[in-house]
Amino acid sequence: MSKNLSHLSYRQGIEKNLFERMVEAAEATGSAETPEHVRALGRESLFGDAVTLGAVSAYDFLKAENAHKKVFVCNGSACLCAGTQKPLHEKLLGHFPQEEIGHICCLGRCHEGGAFQYEGHNYSGQPDDALDHLFTTGNGRSRDHYEVVSILQPAQLTAPFHGIDAFYAPFKGLLNKDRDWFAAELKASGLRGRGGAGFPLHLKWQSCRESPGPLKYIVCNADEGDPGAYIDRYLMEERPHSVLLGMMVAGWFAGASVGILYIRAEYPDSVRVINEAIEDLRAAGLLGLDILGSGFNFTLKTIKGAGAYICGEETALLASIEGQRPEVRVRPPFPTVEGLFRKPTIVNNVETFANLHAILTLGGQGYSRIGTAQSTGPKLLSLDSHFTRPGIYEVAMGTPLRDVIARAGGFKSSIKALQVGGPLGGIVPVSRIDDLTVDFESFRNAGFLLGHAGIVSIPESMPMIEYIQHLFQFTADESCGKCFPCRLGSTRGKELIAKAREDAAFKIDRELMADLLDTMQFTSLCALGGGVPLPIKNALEHFDSELRPFFQS
Ligand SMILES: Cc1cc2nc3c(=O)[nH]c(=O)nc-3n(C[C@H](O)[C@H](O)[C@H](O)COP(=O)(O)O)c2cc1C
Ligand code: SF4
Repeated sequence: MSKNLSHLSYRQGIEKNLFERMVEAAEATGSAETPEHVRALGRESLFGDAVTLGAVSAYDFLKAENAHKKVFVCNGSACLCAGTQKPLHEKLLGHFPQEEIGHICCLGRCHEGGAFQYEGHNYSGQPDDALDHLFTTGNGRSRDHYEVVSILQPAQLTAPFHGIDAFYAPFKGLLNKDRDWFAAELKASGLRGRGGAGFPLHLKWQSCRESPGPLKYIVCNADEGDPGAYIDRYLMEERPHSVLLGMMVAGWFAGASVGILYIRAEYPDSVRVINEAIEDLRAAGLLGLDILGSGFNFTLKTIKGAGAYICGEETALLASIEGQRPEVRVRPPFPTVEGLFRKPTIVNNVETFANLHAILTLGGQGYSRIGTAQSTGPKLLSLDSHFTRPGIYEVAMGTPLRDVIARAGGFKSSIKALQVGGPLGGIVPVSRIDDLTVDFESFRNAGFLLGHAGIVSIPESMPMIEYIQHLFQFTADESCGKCFPCRLGSTRGKELIAKAREDAAFKIDRELMADLLDTMQFTSLCALGGGVPLPIKNALEHFDSELRPFFQS
């Protein structure tokens, strides 16, 4: 069924794609979830009303219930731990009735907390008088500021940008090179995807290259939904060409002529800056047909998301672009064989693409000398507002986590744990920090996860039971609903914890909780339901004495 829908969607083309038309409908009237829009979109696409309603109702920004909301308060983990959101909400009630205040997750303003979106702009860390000024005059300071530090010398991902000519010079050189030679360079580099799973890049790219077909796509996964992570936001807003160059290299290598950046709607500045960078590339003659007489054709396009965490999962993201409900697809077939519109597609994370410039300039071997044998290259981390100097830190893979914390000046207040790698990443008690280096193996071997490497600090004042309820709640809210271990398991977990917090006489059965977590971990279709048991198990193991009062002995 969804295969037929992919083919129907393909007939609309990428320029007039169904998903963007749903978003346009919502921009005009506040929601795409109205009978008129659903009927019109369903008829035009031949999807029918039910499929179209299923799609539009999956997105926060298209839902009827959010149509009349004016301000959206971030409810991500970093803002929760910063303790800024309750006072912010109370302040907002002085300007808006409750029904005009909605929620959003997460704006990537984790370095200062107090984040919210108003009239399409993001704000954070605003003192009370600035809020009053914003809501009475409509003017405010949307820009934010955070540290950008490279512990790696010379810096790679955070290196200064010296203009298109200088930056794209290695790419121009590549256009005359042999693709088999470059395949060997990619393999030698050892680069692994930065989106969380650490999958070897050369295998993915080679698979797409070898997939037959005249039409292939390069998709940049810029849906960075992990609360605590603003690495991709930094790259898109401050180093946009590093991302675009990586996509162009992928297009040249695999024989793809269309690149799409799916950027979450929570990052309006990223969409703007990337669009400007695409225009600059076009003006420089680096996009279009027969680029620099090489025979390589490539175009780039951005698509703005509509508020659904699951769209970060690559198959849900592709379904989203096709205008289908963003549900996870069973693999195989993998996207490199059957991706967007069922054509061969490379999907990589923003930071992964940003590493290609370093591979071109240092060579595969040179690149692999940064980092460890199995986790090569540079890595960015994003630190939240509990650090003395929060921001983006660039390190060589293998750098002790303690060194990063020291460079950030330690913590402003007392911390009991770090959650590294988003809501599906492990909870690291402070006593284990010295055991860890920033690479995939170190975290995995210690029973945690590096993931995308956004860091949320859990303060002493945050009850661990509240934090794990928040993780179950997050999963329940964001589950795509396709498989029941996740759809039901996350809700049952949330209910159990809520009941134990509300009713002192109720104690959670340990065996039941262990069973629930194992069922989610081992039988969920994707790493949302399959991943959330890790931090909860970490919390149960490392914070046993704090959590014991809520469990049967
Ligand atoms: C629930 C879920 C959310 C995800 N969110 C993101 C995301 O926001 N950004 C991202 O690049 N990858 C995300 N991923 C991983 C992608 O599915 C995919 O592995 C990644 O985009 C591949 O790129 P890489 O090889 O460059 O890491 C997510 C996976 C899951 C299961
Ligand atoms: S684990 Fe959750 S998000 Fe993933 S496919 Fe199953 S229901 Fe969907």
